[in-house]
Formats: sequence, C-alpha cells, structure tokens
Amino acid sequence: MMDSRVALITGSSSGIGAAVARRLTAEGFRIVVNSARSEVAGKDLATELPDAVYVQGDVADGADARRIVQAAIDAYGQLDILVNNAGTTRFIPLDDLEAADVEVWREIFDVNVFGAWQLTAAAVPHLRRSDAASVVNISSVSATRALGSSVPYAVSKAALNHMTRLLASQLGPDIRVNAVAPGLVDTPWYDEAEQVWESSREWITANTPLHRVGTPEDVAEAVHYLTNAAYTTGNVLTVDGGRHII
Ligand SMILES: NC(=O)c1ccc[n+]([C@@H]2O[C@H](COP(=O)([O-])OP(=O)(O)OC[C@H]3O[C@@H](n4cnc5c(N)ncnc54)[C@H](OP(=O)(O)O)[C@@H]3O)[C@@H](O)[C@H]2O)c1
Repeated sequence: MMDSRVALITGSSSGIGAAVARRLTAEGFRIVVNSARSEVAGKDLATELPDAVYVQGDVADGADARRIVQAAIDAYGQLDILVNNAGTTRFIPLDDLEAADVEVWREIFDVNVFGAWQLTAAAVPHLRRSDAASVVNISSVSATRALGSSVPYAVSKAALNHMTRLLASQLGPDIRVNAVAPGLVDTPWYDEAEQVWESSREWITANTPLHRVGTPEDVAEAVHYLTNAAYTTGNVLTVDGGRHII
C-alpha cells in the first residue's frame, strides 16, 4: 500500500533535499518543498512531483518557520514527517580562526541549529496528531570528526546531533527523532569551493571502502529508511561509504 503521509522537507529546492522529496514521493508521500532563495527551482520541483506544494521561507526566521509549517497544514491538514535539511556553511580552513569570526558562527548556527529547532518546535503539535510521526535531521560526518568546511559548520552539526538525542528522549513515544550524517555528497553545495571538492573527491575515491563519493539519492534512501524505522529513535545514521572507519 502507498504511504500517504505528509512530509515537509526544508531546503528541498536542490541537492539532498530534492532527492528526499523525490524518494518519498515514490512511496506515495505528499510533499512540502521549501527554500529561502531559490524560489523558481522549488516551484519547479513541486510542479514536477505528483502531489506537492512549495513554500518559500527562511528557516532561520522564527515567523517564517511557523509559516512554513502552517503551509503544510493549510495544504494537507496534517504533518507526519519533518526533514530538517536546510543548511549553510562557509568554506574556511580549520586553522584560520580569524576568518571564522563570531558573525560567521551566528550565520551558520542561525540556519543549521536554530532553524532546525524552530521548525521542530512549530511542527511538534501537528506531528503529535500523526500515528507515524518522525523528525529526520540532516547532519554531517564533520559533527564527529576533525574535518569539515569550517569549524562553526562542524560544531553546528555536532549540536544538531545532540539536539536529535535530547528531542528523541522527550518526544517519544509519539514522535521519533533521528539524524543522517552524510559524508561527501555530490550536490551544488561545493559550487563555490571547487578545489575543496576535487581534492576531497579524489581522496575518498582512492581511500574509502566504497571508492566513491555519495549521491543525494544515497542520503535520501537513509531518510526514507528512518521514516519507517518504528523502533529507532535518537540515532545518527552515518552515510559516508565507510569513510568513518578509515
Ligand atoms: N553535500 C554534502 O557533501 C553534504 C555533506 C554532509 C551534510 N550535508 C548537509 O546536507 C544538507 C543539504 O545540503 P546539499 O548538499 O543538498 O546542499 P544544496 O544543494 O546547496 O541545498 C541546500 C538547500 O538548503 C536551502 N537553504 C539554505 N539556507 C536555507 C534557509 N535559511 N532556509 C530555507 N532553506 C535554505 C537551499 O535553498 P536556498 O539557498 O535557495 O534557500 C537549498 O535548497 C545541509 O544541511 C548540509 O549541511 C551536505
């Protein structure tokens, strides 16, 4: 039987979020697509999918966060799955402490940590009414390893991992809360950092067990699994081709 649950995926106009929207659509889910800036791409995806709506909104903005959730309720009358995927970074070498000033920290935390928090807080009253509710946060392997696009980014994902565990401890049994921690994934994320992308891609292809970088579909598969993993909560699922064991 097709799954007719309603999934809101933040930052789903491109990359991993768009792949999650397509993967859940294949299962029958009804989809709320969101982005802050790329409205045309978001609307195009919602039009392409059989049952989806697009809502523009910045997850870092409290009023927008509530409006994004309300748009799901207005469109479908229910909300079952929240995927906190919207994220941002700056590519700053980890040893450049001056470049990673507190404004950069605030900008990244506003989206990656406070955005996920605000969306979750707005969604929880609706998720409680679902009989198969879950939140999936898109984290990163940089949350637990000394690597990543910048120190503030990696620390923001570490905070997201712990938010995942704390919320899982409080929201069960009604709502499960899990995260997916991808390694390097081929998305527009690296458009502004081609050199970082190329050297990381080469290293991963040569040195990790599965000898390739990830695809958005690899991550979407893990998100789909977690939407159905009825006895799994508070978990961070690593999807990195085995990089973490090297
Ligand atoms: N690619 C990787 O290697 C990788 C690895 C580990 C984790 N991740 C995580 O995966 C997630 C998705 O990244 P991606 O690689 O798919 O990048 P992407 O293709 O650049 O997609 C990012 C998406 O987030 C949206 N977004 C950004 N800021 C937003 C905001 N404030 N409010 C609402 N939407 C916002 C973007 O749209 P607009 O900018 O137009 O609003 C876009 O739809 C991020 O959380 C990232 O940290 C990526």
